[in-house]
Amino acid sequence: MTGEHLKLLVSTIQQLSLARDLDAIIEIVQRSARKLTAAEGVTFVLKDKDQCFYANEDAIAPLWKGQRFPLEHCVSGWAMINRSSVVIKDIYADSRVPSEAYEPTFVKSLVIVPIRIMDPVGAIGNYWANEHESTKEEVELLQALADITSVSMENIYVYNELEERVRQRTAELEYLNQELEAFSYSVSHDLQSPLRSINSLIRMVTENTDGKLADGELNMLQAAGKSAMRMSALVDDLLELSKLDKKEISKTRVDMNTLVKSVVDDIERDLKTEATILIHPLHEIKADYSLMRQAMYNLISNAVKYSSKNKHPRVEISSHQQDDEIIFTIQDNGVGFSMKYVKKLFVPFQRLHNKSEFEGSGIGLANVSRIIQRHGGKIWADAKLNEGATFYFSLKNGIN
Ligand SMILES: Nc1ncnc2c1ncn2[C@@H]1O[C@H](COP(=O)(O)OP(=O)(O)OP(=O)(O)O)[C@@H](O)[C@H]1O
Ligand SMILES: [Mg+2]
Repeated sequence: MTGEHLKLLVSTIQQLSLARDLDAIIEIVQRSARKLTAAEGVTFVLKDKDQCFYANEDAIAPLWKGQRFPLEHCVSGWAMINRSSVVIKDIYADSRVPSEAYEPTFVKSLVIVPIRIMDPVGAIGNYWANEHESTKEEVELLQALADITSVSMENIYVYNELEERVRQRTAELEYLNQELEAFSYSVSHDLQSPLRSINSLIRMVTENTDGKLADGELNMLQAAGKSAMRMSALVDDLLELSKLDKKEISKTRVDMNTLVKSVVDDIERDLKTEATILIHPLHEIKADYSLMRQAMYNLISNAVKYSSKNKHPRVEISSHQQDDEIIFTIQDNGVGFSMKYVKKLFVPFQRLHNKSEFEGSGIGLANVSRIIQRHGGKIWADAKLNEGATFYFSLKNGIN
Protein backbone atom coordinates (compact mmCIF):
# COMPACT_ATOMS: atom_id res chain seq x y z
CA MET A 1 0.00 0.00 0.00
CA THR A 2 1.46 3.37 -0.94
CA GLY A 3 1.34 6.48 1.20
CA GLU A 4 -1.25 7.91 -1.20
CA HIS A 5 -3.48 4.87 -0.75
CA LEU A 6 -3.21 5.10 3.00
CA LYS A 7 -4.09 8.80 2.97
CA LEU A 8 -7.08 8.10 0.76
CA LEU A 9 -8.34 5.30 3.02
CA VAL A 10 -7.94 7.44 6.12
CA SER A 11 -9.81 10.33 4.53
CA THR A 12 -12.53 7.90 3.40
CA ILE A 13 -12.93 6.61 6.95
CA GLN A 14 -13.18 10.17 8.23
CA GLN A 15 -15.84 11.06 5.67
CA LEU A 16 -17.76 7.85 6.33
CA SER A 17 -17.79 8.52 10.05
CA LEU A 18 -19.77 11.70 9.35
CA ALA A 19 -22.19 10.11 6.85
CA ARG A 20 -25.75 9.96 8.16
CA ASP A 21 -27.51 8.14 5.32
CA LEU A 22 -26.93 5.46 2.73
CA ASP A 23 -26.78 7.89 -0.20
CA ALA A 24 -23.92 9.75 1.45
CA ILE A 25 -22.07 6.47 2.06
CA ILE A 26 -22.53 5.38 -1.57
CA GLU A 27 -21.18 8.71 -2.90
CA ILE A 28 -18.11 8.56 -0.66
CA VAL A 29 -17.35 4.90 -1.42
CA GLN A 30 -17.71 5.26 -5.21
CA ARG A 31 -15.43 8.27 -5.32
CA SER A 32 -12.88 6.57 -3.11
CA ALA A 33 -12.91 3.27 -5.07
CA ARG A 34 -12.32 5.06 -8.36
CA LYS A 35 -9.38 6.95 -6.90
CA LEU A 36 -7.88 3.85 -5.27
CA THR A 37 -7.91 1.76 -8.47
CA ALA A 38 -7.96 4.38 -11.23
CA ALA A 39 -11.01 2.52 -12.57
CA GLU A 40 -13.16 3.99 -15.35
CA GLY A 41 -16.29 3.06 -13.47
CA VAL A 42 -17.54 1.97 -10.06
CA THR A 43 -20.96 0.55 -9.20
CA PHE A 44 -22.51 0.28 -5.77
CA VAL A 45 -24.67 -2.82 -5.64
CA LEU A 46 -27.13 -3.65 -2.85
CA LYS A 47 -28.44 -7.12 -2.11
CA ASP A 48 -32.22 -6.96 -2.13
CA LYS A 49 -33.46 -10.44 -1.16
CA ASP A 50 -32.46 -12.61 -4.14
CA GLN A 51 -31.64 -9.72 -6.42
CA CYS A 52 -28.74 -7.40 -7.10
CA PHE A 53 -29.84 -3.79 -7.13
CA TYR A 54 -27.43 -1.48 -8.93
CA ALA A 55 -28.10 1.44 -6.58
CA ASN A 56 -25.63 3.93 -8.02
CA GLU A 57 -22.57 4.33 -10.19
CA ASP A 58 -19.73 6.68 -10.93
CA ALA A 59 -18.45 5.88 -14.44
CA ILE A 60 -17.30 7.39 -17.74
CA ALA A 61 -20.40 5.98 -19.47
CA PRO A 62 -23.68 4.49 -18.24
CA LEU A 63 -23.58 1.02 -16.70
CA TRP A 64 -26.65 -0.45 -14.93
CA LYS A 65 -27.77 2.21 -12.47
CA GLY A 66 -31.29 1.52 -11.16
CA GLN A 67 -31.45 -1.99 -12.65
CA ARG A 68 -32.04 -5.28 -10.85
CA PHE A 69 -30.75 -8.75 -11.75
CA PRO A 70 -31.20 -12.12 -10.02
CA LEU A 71 -28.18 -12.88 -7.84
CA GLU A 72 -27.34 -15.90 -10.03
CA HIS A 73 -27.25 -13.81 -13.20
CA CYS A 74 -24.67 -11.18 -12.38
CA VAL A 75 -21.07 -11.15 -11.23
CA SER A 76 -21.88 -9.04 -8.15
CA GLY A 77 -24.36 -11.77 -7.23
CA TRP A 78 -21.63 -14.37 -7.68
CA ALA A 79 -19.35 -12.39 -5.32
CA MET A 80 -22.11 -12.23 -2.71
CA ILE A 81 -23.19 -15.87 -3.00
CA ASN A 82 -19.58 -17.12 -2.85
CA ARG A 83 -18.53 -14.50 -0.28
CA SER A 84 -15.45 -13.79 -2.27
CA SER A 85 -13.94 -11.15 -4.50
CA VAL A 86 -14.01 -11.64 -8.27
CA VAL A 87 -11.13 -10.58 -10.53
CA ILE A 88 -11.70 -10.86 -14.30
CA LYS A 89 -9.18 -9.58 -16.83
CA ASP A 90 -11.34 -10.27 -19.89
CA ILE A 91 -15.04 -10.50 -19.25
CA TYR A 92 -15.72 -12.08 -22.64
CA ALA A 93 -13.54 -15.03 -21.69
CA ASP A 94 -15.11 -15.85 -18.34
CA SER A 95 -18.09 -18.15 -17.89
CA ARG A 96 -19.34 -16.31 -14.76
CA VAL A 97 -20.05 -13.21 -16.84
CA PRO A 98 -23.29 -12.86 -18.79
CA SER A 99 -21.54 -11.14 -21.72
CA GLU A 100 -24.77 -9.77 -23.25
CA ALA A 101 -25.15 -7.51 -20.20
CA TYR A 102 -21.69 -6.08 -20.91
CA GLU A 103 -21.96 -5.62 -24.67
CA PRO A 104 -23.54 -2.14 -24.52
CA THR A 105 -20.92 -0.96 -21.98
CA PHE A 106 -17.27 0.09 -22.11
CA VAL A 107 -16.19 -2.67 -19.72
CA LYS A 108 -13.33 -5.01 -20.48
CA SER A 109 -11.94 -5.90 -17.01
CA LEU A 110 -13.48 -5.92 -13.57
CA VAL A 111 -12.89 -6.48 -9.86
CA ILE A 112 -15.87 -6.98 -7.56
CA VAL A 113 -15.66 -7.17 -3.77
CA PRO A 114 -18.53 -8.19 -1.48
CA ILE A 115 -19.60 -5.82 1.29
CA ARG A 116 -19.54 -7.76 4.58
CA ILE A 117 -17.96 -11.08 3.73
CA MET A 118 -19.74 -13.26 6.31
CA ASP A 119 -23.22 -12.22 5.27
CA PRO A 120 -22.97 -9.92 2.25
CA VAL A 121 -25.30 -6.93 2.00
CA GLY A 122 -23.93 -5.66 -1.28
CA ALA A 123 -20.89 -5.34 -3.49
CA ILE A 124 -18.58 -2.74 -4.95
CA GLY A 125 -17.86 -3.22 -8.67
CA ASN A 126 -14.82 -1.68 -10.37
CA TYR A 127 -14.54 -1.58 -14.16
CA TRP A 128 -11.83 -0.77 -16.68
CA ALA A 129 -12.24 -0.04 -20.37
CA ASN A 130 -8.90 -1.62 -21.29
CA GLU A 131 -7.54 -4.92 -20.17
CA HIS A 132 -6.51 -4.38 -16.54
CA GLU A 133 -4.07 -6.57 -14.66
CA SER A 134 -5.29 -6.43 -11.07
CA THR A 135 -2.77 -6.94 -8.26
CA LYS A 136 -3.38 -8.78 -5.00
CA GLU A 137 -2.75 -5.51 -3.21
CA GLU A 138 -5.41 -3.72 -5.23
CA VAL A 139 -8.01 -6.36 -4.33
CA GLU A 140 -7.01 -6.15 -0.68
CA LEU A 141 -7.38 -2.37 -0.76
CA LEU A 142 -10.85 -2.69 -2.26
CA GLN A 143 -11.82 -5.34 0.27
CA ALA A 144 -10.63 -3.01 3.05
CA LEU A 145 -12.84 -0.29 1.58
CA ALA A 146 -15.78 -2.73 1.45
CA ASP A 147 -15.21 -3.67 5.09
CA ILE A 148 -15.28 -0.02 6.20
CA THR A 149 -18.39 0.42 4.09
CA SER A 150 -20.17 -2.39 5.85
CA VAL A 151 -19.36 -0.93 9.29
CA SER A 152 -20.67 2.45 8.12
CA MET A 153 -23.86 0.89 6.81
CA GLU A 154 -24.44 -0.82 10.14
CA ASN A 155 -23.75 2.45 11.93
CA ILE A 156 -26.36 4.36 10.00
CA TYR A 157 -28.81 1.57 10.66
CA VAL A 158 -28.15 1.85 14.40
CA TYR A 159 -28.10 5.64 14.20
CA ASN A 160 -31.42 5.79 12.37
CA GLU A 161 -32.97 3.31 14.73
CA LEU A 162 -31.79 5.35 17.73
CA GLU A 163 -33.04 8.56 16.18
CA GLU A 164 -36.38 6.95 15.52
CA ARG A 165 -36.57 5.71 19.08
CA VAL A 166 -35.73 9.18 20.43
CA ARG A 167 -38.36 10.68 18.12
CA GLN A 168 -40.97 8.21 19.35
CA ARG A 169 -40.09 8.80 23.01
CA THR A 170 -40.20 12.55 22.59
CA ALA A 171 -43.59 12.36 20.89
CA GLU A 172 -44.89 10.10 23.68
CA LEU A 173 -43.57 12.45 26.36
CA GLU A 174 -45.00 15.50 24.62
CA TYR A 175 -48.34 13.78 24.40
CA LEU A 176 -48.28 12.77 28.07
CA ASN A 177 -47.21 16.24 29.05
CA GLN A 178 -50.04 17.82 27.13
CA GLU A 179 -52.49 15.36 28.64
CA LEU A 180 -51.22 16.17 32.09
CA GLU A 181 -51.41 19.89 31.48
CA ALA A 182 -54.92 19.62 30.10
CA PHE A 183 -55.91 17.42 33.02
CA SER A 184 -54.58 19.72 35.73
CA TYR A 185 -56.06 22.71 33.96
CA SER A 186 -59.52 21.20 33.66
CA VAL A 187 -59.51 19.71 37.16
CA SER A 188 -58.53 22.99 38.76
CA HIS A 189 -60.91 24.88 36.52
CA ASP A 190 -63.84 22.55 37.22
CA LEU A 191 -63.16 22.49 40.96
CA GLN A 192 -63.47 26.22 41.22
CA SER A 193 -67.23 26.59 40.87
CA PRO A 194 -68.38 23.86 43.31
CA LEU A 195 -65.88 25.25 45.82
CA ARG A 196 -67.25 28.71 45.31
CA SER A 197 -70.76 27.49 46.07
CA ILE A 198 -69.61 25.56 49.16
CA ASN A 199 -67.95 28.77 50.36
CA SER A 200 -70.95 30.94 49.81
CA LEU A 201 -73.35 28.37 51.32
CA ILE A 202 -71.22 28.11 54.45
CA ARG A 203 -71.05 31.88 54.62
CA MET A 204 -74.84 32.19 54.29
CA VAL A 205 -75.44 29.65 57.05
CA THR A 206 -72.87 31.08 59.47
CA GLU A 207 -74.02 34.66 58.89
CA ASN A 208 -77.72 33.98 59.47
CA THR A 209 -77.89 31.46 62.28
CA ASP A 210 -80.15 33.60 64.51
CA GLY A 211 -78.99 31.55 67.45
CA LYS A 212 -80.27 28.32 65.89
CA LEU A 213 -76.85 26.74 65.99
CA ALA A 214 -74.96 25.79 69.10
CA ASP A 215 -71.57 27.56 69.51
CA GLY A 216 -69.69 24.35 68.80
CA GLU A 217 -71.60 23.83 65.58
CA LEU A 218 -70.99 27.39 64.47
CA ASN A 219 -67.25 27.01 65.14
CA MET A 220 -67.14 23.81 63.14
CA LEU A 221 -68.92 25.42 60.24
CA GLN A 222 -66.57 28.39 60.34
CA ALA A 223 -63.58 26.05 60.36
CA ALA A 224 -65.06 24.21 57.37
CA GLY A 225 -65.49 27.59 55.68
CA LYS A 226 -61.83 28.42 56.27
CA SER A 227 -60.72 25.07 54.87
CA ALA A 228 -62.88 25.55 51.81
CA MET A 229 -61.41 29.02 51.28
CA ARG A 230 -57.94 27.58 51.62
CA MET A 231 -58.71 24.86 49.12
CA SER A 232 -60.08 27.46 46.79
CA ALA A 233 -56.81 29.40 47.06
CA LEU A 234 -54.83 26.22 46.33
CA VAL A 235 -56.97 25.51 43.29
CA ASP A 236 -56.38 29.07 42.10
CA ASP A 237 -52.64 28.51 42.51
CA LEU A 238 -52.81 25.30 40.53
CA LEU A 239 -54.74 27.02 37.80
CA GLU A 240 -52.19 29.81 37.66
CA LEU A 241 -49.42 27.23 37.40
CA SER A 242 -51.02 25.42 34.49
CA LYS A 243 -51.78 28.74 32.79
CA LEU A 244 -48.05 29.41 32.90
CA ASP A 245 -47.48 26.46 30.57
CA LYS A 246 -50.01 27.72 28.08
CA LYS A 247 -49.08 31.38 28.14
CA GLU A 248 -47.18 32.69 25.11
CA ILE A 249 -43.97 34.28 26.25
CA SER A 250 -42.88 37.47 24.62
CA LYS A 251 -39.29 38.40 25.19
CA THR A 252 -37.98 41.95 25.20
CA ARG A 253 -34.84 43.58 26.53
CA VAL A 254 -35.27 43.79 30.27
CA ASP A 255 -33.20 46.01 32.51
CA MET A 256 -33.07 43.82 35.60
CA ASN A 257 -31.96 46.78 37.77
CA THR A 258 -35.29 48.53 37.23
CA LEU A 259 -37.30 45.32 37.44
CA VAL A 260 -35.73 44.21 40.71
CA LYS A 261 -35.98 47.71 42.19
CA SER A 262 -39.72 47.81 41.54
CA VAL A 263 -40.14 44.24 42.91
CA VAL A 264 -38.27 45.22 46.07
CA ASP A 265 -40.48 48.34 46.44
CA ASP A 266 -43.57 46.13 46.25
CA ILE A 267 -42.16 43.60 48.71
CA GLU A 268 -41.17 46.31 51.21
CA ARG A 269 -44.71 47.66 50.98
CA ASP A 270 -46.48 44.24 51.09
CA LEU A 271 -44.37 42.48 53.70
CA LYS A 272 -43.30 45.49 55.77
CA THR A 273 -39.90 43.88 56.10
CA GLU A 274 -37.03 44.93 58.30
CA ALA A 275 -34.54 43.26 55.99
CA THR A 276 -31.67 45.08 54.39
CA ILE A 277 -32.06 44.37 50.69
CA LEU A 278 -28.94 44.99 48.67
CA ILE A 279 -29.20 45.15 44.89
CA HIS A 280 -25.88 44.88 43.07
CA PRO A 281 -25.66 46.15 39.47
CA LEU A 282 -27.54 43.57 37.38
CA HIS A 283 -27.17 42.42 33.79
CA GLU A 284 -29.65 43.27 31.10
CA ILE A 285 -31.38 40.19 29.65
CA LYS A 286 -33.97 39.18 27.09
CA ALA A 287 -37.06 37.96 28.91
CA ASP A 288 -40.80 38.15 29.27
CA TYR A 289 -41.10 41.16 31.56
CA SER A 290 -44.15 40.17 33.59
CA LEU A 291 -43.08 36.53 34.02
CA MET A 292 -39.57 37.55 35.05
CA ARG A 293 -41.09 40.03 37.49
CA GLN A 294 -43.21 37.27 38.99
CA ALA A 295 -40.17 34.98 39.30
CA MET A 296 -38.11 37.68 41.00
CA TYR A 297 -41.02 38.58 43.28
CA ASN A 298 -41.34 34.97 44.43
CA LEU A 299 -37.60 34.51 44.98
CA ILE A 300 -37.02 37.79 46.81
CA SER A 301 -40.19 37.48 48.90
CA ASN A 302 -39.06 33.99 49.93
CA ALA A 303 -35.64 35.36 50.90
CA VAL A 304 -37.34 38.06 52.98
CA LYS A 305 -39.85 35.62 54.51
CA TYR A 306 -37.38 32.91 55.44
CA SER A 307 -34.84 35.38 56.88
CA SER A 308 -37.43 37.28 58.93
CA LYS A 309 -36.45 35.48 62.13
CA ASN A 310 -32.84 36.63 61.91
CA LYS A 311 -32.10 39.71 64.04
CA HIS A 312 -30.45 41.38 61.07
CA PRO A 313 -32.13 39.93 58.01
CA ARG A 314 -30.19 40.60 54.87
CA VAL A 315 -30.94 39.80 51.24
CA GLU A 316 -28.52 40.29 48.36
CA ILE A 317 -29.34 40.18 44.68
CA SER A 318 -26.55 40.04 42.12
CA SER A 319 -25.69 38.72 38.68
CA HIS A 320 -22.58 37.62 36.86
CA GLN A 321 -21.65 36.31 33.47
CA GLN A 322 -20.20 32.84 32.98
CA ASP A 323 -19.36 31.91 29.39
CA ASP A 324 -22.51 32.70 27.41
CA GLU A 325 -24.80 32.59 30.44
CA ILE A 326 -25.95 35.22 32.88
CA ILE A 327 -26.40 33.86 36.39
CA PHE A 328 -28.64 35.64 38.88
CA THR A 329 -28.18 35.05 42.60
CA ILE A 330 -30.62 35.73 45.43
CA GLN A 331 -28.98 35.15 48.77
CA ASP A 332 -30.35 35.47 52.30
CA ASN A 333 -29.18 34.85 55.86
CA GLY A 334 -32.37 33.14 56.99
CA VAL A 335 -33.31 29.72 58.31
CA GLY A 336 -32.02 27.90 55.22
CA PHE A 337 -32.81 24.21 54.80
CA SER A 338 -31.09 20.88 54.65
CA MET A 339 -29.80 20.00 51.16
CA LYS A 340 -31.30 16.54 51.72
CA TYR A 341 -34.65 18.00 50.67
CA VAL A 342 -33.42 20.20 47.86
CA LYS A 343 -35.27 18.14 45.21
CA LYS A 344 -38.63 18.98 46.79
CA LEU A 345 -38.18 22.73 46.50
CA PHE A 346 -39.58 23.20 43.02
CA VAL A 347 -42.42 20.67 43.29
CA PRO A 348 -45.88 22.27 43.64
CA PHE A 349 -47.21 22.31 47.21
CA GLN A 350 -44.05 20.84 48.70
CA ARG A 351 -42.83 22.85 51.68
CA LEU A 352 -39.77 22.40 53.84
CA HIS A 353 -41.18 24.50 56.68
CA ASN A 354 -44.53 24.13 58.30
CA LYS A 355 -47.33 26.65 58.44
CA SER A 356 -46.81 27.52 62.08
CA GLU A 357 -43.26 28.64 61.28
CA PHE A 358 -43.88 30.37 57.97
CA GLU A 359 -47.10 31.01 56.03
CA GLY A 360 -47.27 29.80 52.45
CA SER A 361 -48.77 27.24 50.13
CA GLY A 362 -45.63 25.93 48.44
CA ILE A 363 -46.41 27.07 44.92
CA GLY A 364 -44.06 30.05 44.54
CA LEU A 365 -40.91 28.14 43.55
CA ALA A 366 -42.83 25.79 41.24
CA ASN A 367 -43.93 28.91 39.37
CA VAL A 368 -40.39 30.28 39.29
CA SER A 369 -39.05 27.01 37.99
CA ARG A 370 -41.61 26.91 35.13
CA ILE A 371 -40.86 30.51 34.25
CA ILE A 372 -37.11 29.92 34.10
CA GLN A 373 -37.64 26.69 32.12
CA ARG A 374 -39.81 28.54 29.63
CA HIS A 375 -36.95 30.98 29.16
CA GLY A 376 -34.63 28.07 28.39
CA GLY A 377 -32.78 28.57 31.65
CA LYS A 378 -31.89 26.55 34.73
CA ILE A 379 -32.59 27.08 38.41
CA TRP A 380 -30.93 25.59 41.46
CA ALA A 381 -30.37 26.31 45.13
CA ASP A 382 -27.77 25.95 47.80
CA ALA A 383 -28.41 26.15 51.52
CA LYS A 384 -27.52 24.98 54.99
CA LEU A 385 -29.91 24.55 57.86
CA ASN A 386 -29.96 27.79 59.90
CA GLU A 387 -27.28 29.35 57.70
CA GLY A 388 -29.27 30.98 54.93
CA ALA A 389 -30.14 30.01 51.40
CA THR A 390 -28.97 31.03 47.94
CA PHE A 391 -31.06 30.61 44.82
CA TYR A 392 -29.49 30.79 41.39
CA PHE A 393 -30.90 30.87 37.91
CA SER A 394 -29.07 31.08 34.63
CA LEU A 395 -30.25 32.37 31.27
CA LYS A 396 -28.50 31.80 27.96
CA ASN A 397 -29.74 34.92 26.29
CA GLY A 398 -27.94 37.71 28.11
CA ILE A 399 -27.36 40.80 26.04
CA ASN A 400 -24.12 42.13 27.55
N1 LIG B 1 -35.04 31.49 50.86
C1 LIG B 1 -35.45 30.36 51.42
N2 LIG B 1 -34.89 29.92 52.58
C2 LIG B 1 -35.30 28.77 53.15
N3 LIG B 1 -36.25 27.97 52.63
C3 LIG B 1 -36.84 28.35 51.50
C4 LIG B 1 -36.48 29.54 50.83
N4 LIG B 1 -37.24 29.66 49.73
C5 LIG B 1 -38.03 28.57 49.72
N5 LIG B 1 -37.80 27.78 50.77
C6 LIG B 1 -38.45 26.50 51.11
O1 LIG B 1 -39.03 26.00 49.92
C7 LIG B 1 -40.43 25.79 50.08
C8 LIG B 1 -41.13 26.10 48.80
O2 LIG B 1 -41.06 27.47 48.50
P1 LIG B 1 -42.25 28.17 47.76
O3 LIG B 1 -41.89 29.60 47.51
O4 LIG B 1 -42.60 27.32 46.60
O5 LIG B 1 -43.46 28.05 48.76
P2 LIG B 1 -43.85 28.92 50.01
O6 LIG B 1 -42.98 30.09 50.16
O7 LIG B 1 -43.92 27.97 51.14
O8 LIG B 1 -45.33 29.37 49.63
P3 LIG B 1 -45.80 30.37 48.51
O9 LIG B 1 -46.59 29.55 47.57
O10 LIG B 1 -46.59 31.37 49.23
O11 LIG B 1 -44.58 30.95 47.87
C9 LIG B 1 -40.81 26.71 51.22
O12 LIG B 1 -41.94 26.22 51.88
C10 LIG B 1 -39.57 26.69 52.10
O13 LIG B 1 -39.61 25.57 52.93
MG1 LIG C 1 -42.75 31.37 48.45
